[in-house]
Amino acid sequence: MDRIRLVGGNPLNGEIPISGAKNAALPLMIASLLTDESLVLLNVPRLADVKQLERILENHGVDIAVHGRRRGDAAMDGQRITFTAADIVDTTAPYDLVSKMRASFWVIGPLLAREGEARVSLPGGCAIGTRPVDFYLDGLRALGAEIEIDGGYVVARAPGGRLRGATVHFPKVSVGATHVVMMAASLAEGTTIIENAAREPEVGNLADCLVAMGAKITGIGTDRLEIEGVDRLGGATHEVLPDRIETGTYAMAAAMTGGEVFLRGARPELLQAALDTLARTGTTITPETGGIRISRNGNGLSATDISTEPFPGFPTDLQAQFMALMTRADGVSTISETIFENRFMHVAELLRFGANIQVEGQTAKVTGVPELRGAQVMATDLRASVSLVIAGLAARGETVVNRIYHLDRGFERLEEKLSLCGAEIERIAG
Ligand code: UD1
Repeated sequence: MDRIRLVGGNPLNGEIPISGAKNAALPLMIASLLTDESLVLLNVPRLADVKQLERILENHGVDIAVHGRRRGDAAMDGQRITFTAADIVDTTAPYDLVSKMRASFWVIGPLLAREGEARVSLPGGCAIGTRPVDFYLDGLRALGAEIEIDGGYVVARAPGGRLRGATVHFPKVSVGATHVVMMAASLAEGTTIIENAAREPEVGNLADCLVAMGAKITGIGTDRLEIEGVDRLGGATHEVLPDRIETGTYAMAAAMTGGEVFLRGARPELLQAALDTLARTGTTITPETGGIRISRNGNGLSATDISTEPFPGFPTDLQAQFMALMTRADGVSTISETIFENRFMHVAELLRFGANIQVEGQTAKVTGVPELRGAQVMATDLRASVSLVIAGLAARGETVVNRIYHLDRGFERLEEKLSLCGAEIERIAG
C-alpha cells in the first residue's frame, strides 16, 4: 500500500493548478445515463473515484471515450471524456461496485427515470457517519416510485414506466438527494418542486448541464428548484467546475507553511466563507484574474472559530484541514461539526504530531502549540487524510502518512502539486 513521506518546514511558494471538482464530476458523469446521446465532459479530474464510477457506468452499458491525452499523462489539465449511454444494458448496480463509493448510489435517479426500474446496492463510502438514504427514497417515492429493500439492494420501480412530478421537501439539506431527485424529475411527467434543496455549487453545475441537455429547471443556485419534466434529454458538452475543496485545502496548506501560492483556476465565489475565515487567521487572500493568491509572510496565525454549514457556509469537507491549521495558531479555536456526526477521526492522528485538541460531542477545542513534530500517521477518510499532510508540512522532521488510497480518491497528483511549490514530499510505493 502506498505511503506519503514528507519533511516539514519549507514554506510553499509558486503556482498550483486546481483540478476539476470531484463532487461535480461524479454527478455529471451519472447524468449521462439520462440520454441515449453523447455527453461530453471537460475538465474531468484524474481520480480513483472517477475511475471507479467509470466502471459502474460501463456496467450499465455506457460507452466511455477519453480524448486527447491519454489517462495518466503528465499534464495537469483536466480530461475530456465522452459518455454515451445509447442503451442501458443493466439496471442493477451491484454491491461490489457501489460499496466502494457512496456517490455511485446516485445512479438510482437516472436509471429509474429513463428505464422505469433500478436495483442499486445500498452505498458505502467514507466512514464519517451513518449517512442514510432516507431522503433519496422519500423523494423518489414522492415522484411515484415503488421502493423495497431486498437483500441489501434498493429495488425501485416507476408504475407505468414513468415518474410523476411532485413537491419534495427535504427535512435537512442533502447534496446527494438533491442531485438524485433533480435528475429523476427532469424526465418525469409534470412539474417537480424541490424545497430545501442543496445550494452547493456542484448542484448548480449539474443543473446547468441538465439544462444544456434539454431539461427545464429554474431556481438554480437557490434552495427551491422547479423542474418541468420533459420526454427526453439529448447530448451536451459541459465543463466540470474547479474544485473548491482542493482550492481550500491548498490555501490552508499555504497558510500553514507560510509563503505565497497562486491557485490557478480557483474561483473565490465557490468558497467565500472559507476564504473569509482564512483571512481572519491573518492569511492574505487576493482574488486575481484566473485564480486566487494566498500568502502569509512572517506573521503568526490567529485562532479562529468555525461551524460547518451547508453552502454558502463553511464546508464540512474543509473542517479537518482547518483543524490542522489551527493546531499552530495563537490561542484557542472552537470547531463545530454540524453536518456529519463522526467527522473528528483526524483528531487522534493530529495528536500524534503533538497537537492539543479536546473533543466534546460535535465540538473540538484546539489550543495552538508552538511546534508540531513529524510522526507516523494513518489516513482515515478522504478529507481527514489531507489534514495530516497539512500538519506534516509544518511539522519538524519526517512524517509518513499511511493508507493514502483515500487521498487518491479525491486529490489529483497531490505530492506533485506540493513539491512544485517547494515541499519535500514523495510517494513511497508498496
Ligand atoms: C456530499 C459530498 C461530500 C460532502 C457532503 C456535505 C459528494 C460526492 N459528496 O455528500 O463530500 O461532505 O455532500 O456537503 O458530493 N442525510 C440523511 N439522509 C439522507 C441523505 C443525507 O440523513 O438520505 C444526512 C447525512 O447523513 C448528513 C447530511 O444529511 O448528515 C448531509 O449529507 P449529504 O449532503 O447528503 O452528503 P452527500 O451527498 O453524501
